Amino acid sequence: MNLVLETIKNRRSIRRYLPQQIRDEELSLILEAGVWAPSAHNEQPWHFSVIQKEELIDMMSEKTIAMMKKSRLEWVRKMGEREGFHVFYNAPTVIVVSGKTGGEALLKPIADCSAAIQNILLAAESLGIGTCWIGFTGLFFVTATKEELQNLGIPEGYEPFYSIAVGYKSPDHLYSAPRRKQNAITYIR
Ligand SMILES: Cc1cc2nc3c(=O)[nH]c(=O)nc-3n(C[C@H](O)[C@H](O)[C@H](O)COP(=O)(O)O)c2cc1C
Repeated sequence: MNLVLETIKNRRSIRRYLPQQIRDEELSLILEAGVWAPSAHNEQPWHFSVIQKEELIDMMSEKTIAMMKKSRLEWVRKMGEREGFHVFYNAPTVIVVSGKTGGEALLKPIADCSAAIQNILLAAESLGIGTCWIGFTGLFFVTATKEELQNLGIPEGYEPFYSIAVGYKSPDHLYSAPRRKQNAITYIR
């Protein structure tokens, strides 16, 4: 199998990390892959906040967990109540991906940002670095104050969509590839 296809298939959501920080050169390569994603009308409507301050990462996790505990969804509440649960699985780097607001309705920055995120996940995997796409932080983002968003380095006119946990995989990380649904493709030819 060629390397790109192998990387796509081998990438997993990693939920156990080593505390050791990733190297800046690796971080730059990963972020560069993000900005090479396609975007509608080539707007490149993304912003990446790279957070490596442990207190800030823990604060985001705690605020997200507080919201998870109030969720109307039982599985979300249960996860939030899990002993020792950390939204980023104690990864040493978190990337918050924000999109530009106020554009044409036809343009959907969340789609462009998601393409960038997938590039980041694949680039990281190609370097042997673990990642996990984190949607739960959306619960915190919608309730965050302007000041809290500014502290995350989110520029005026951007809204945070998702986060990515990034770090070296713990040797005991679980490699479980959830089965893929078999009926997702229709051929018409
Ligand atoms: C939009 C989105 C949001 C996600 N949010 C979370 C999350 O908050 N926490 C988490 O542990 N995994 C999260 N994931 C990871 C999925 O659970 C994971 O991709 C899925 O179970 C398939 O596993 P794999 O990534 O190992 O193939 C998210 C994935 C996507 C695409």
